[in-house]
Amino acid sequence: MISIALENVSKSYQADTPVVKNVDLDIEPGEFVVIVGPSGCGKSTMMRMIAGLERISSGTLRIGGRVANDIPPQHRDIAMVFQNYALYPHLTVAENIGFSLEMRGVSKTERLRRVEVVAHLLQLSDYLHKKPKDLSGGQRQRVAMGRAIARDAKTYLMDEPLSNLDAELRSSMRAEIKHLHRQLKATMIYVTHDQVEALTLADRIAVMNKGVLQQFDTPEKIYDDPASLFVAGFIGSPPMNFIDAVCKEGLVKTIEGIRIPITCPPELEGSQVVIGLRPENGVLSTGDKRMAIEFPGEVMLIETTGSNRNIHAKTATGPLIVVAPRSAAIGLGDNVSIGYRTEDVFLFEKNTGKRIHLL
Ligand SMILES: Nc1ncnc2c1ncn2[C@@H]1O[C@H](COP(=O)(O)OP(=O)(O)OP(=O)(O)O)[C@@H](O)[C@H]1O
Ligand SMILES: [Mg+2]
Repeated sequence: MISIALENVSKSYQADTPVVKNVDLDIEPGEFVVIVGPSGCGKSTMMRMIAGLERISSGTLRIGGRVANDIPPQHRDIAMVFQNYALYPHLTVAENIGFSLEMRGVSKTERLRRVEVVAHLLQLSDYLHKKPKDLSGGQRQRVAMGRAIARDAKTYLMDEPLSNLDAELRSSMRAEIKHLHRQLKATMIYVTHDQVEALTLADRIAVMNKGVLQQFDTPEKIYDDPASLFVAGFIGSPPMNFIDAVCKEGLVKTIEGIRIPITCPPELEGSQVVIGLRPENGVLSTGDKRMAIEFPGEVMLIETTGSNRNIHAKTATGPLIVVAPRSAAIGLGDNVSIGYRTEDVFLFEKNTGKRIHLL
């Protein structure tokens, strides 16, 4: 098991327009790290720099403590699954999976054994003699993954390896990857733009936005203690509700003048802030108001998610979503009250998006 560290790493394809900006990331040996963020935020670029396929513009990459900026890719002991994987079209599934083993001079018996194990794991055993053109997109993606897993590398980089799979296979593959990580005892870096995947897979999540690392922490900390407005809005489903407010006379007031009973730090007096409320923390009621914070509203839309319902309400402060149990007797057009406890409130600076920690 090996550590990977990025120290103040930046990447620019054109002068003065960095796509990865001063990233510090300290990955422990054997850790499963998920890099998550919207399209174009620099995820693949980071992976390609770690793999040695893209030059690092500035900063230091260390693999196992050793500076690795100039180590050629073939000497980094890293296996990578590419986002736009390309299989060898003239080779069968078995030959594609075993290709890197053959290149490394692994004996035929051992190769066949490993290919079989990997094919079984990825549910590809029935397709070993087919060519890539005869496979579905999802099957091809699994072959690409098999090719990387078949190698016994110290580090595995996976760039959106499940993006072409249907929901059911995606979920079972997620469990397999987690299991695989434990078996391989290798360091894994996994890229996705799916926050559910990030939360379920990672030991630690690196949340990126516009080339900047926003937060690097455990899934629990990222959810419970987001460092910024961006992280708070990106992680969680349905997404966190945001309400514009100001700090006035020591208290938070929404733009419409609703007083929120939380104390603003004195240095923020007069400044604009954003209140964050998770839909799953809201409590719906139709009558008596018992919570510290109550937003009266009207139900505009009800989405069923199976076990729960997402209630979209129109309130004086804007739209609010709250997760309600399926049993809640709520109908379209009902007048409701959405209640929160003061400890459920997240607060952010409007200008910088920085989290304001409440006492
Ligand atoms: N070879 C290149 N030359 C110039 N710009 C590039 C190159 N490769 C990537 N970029 C730019 O760098 C930025 C980051 O790209 P990257 O592929 O790392 O994003 P990503 O987070 O992987 O996105 P996605 O989720 O869509 O795969 C983008 O703005 C992209 O246009
Ligand atoms: Mg990408």
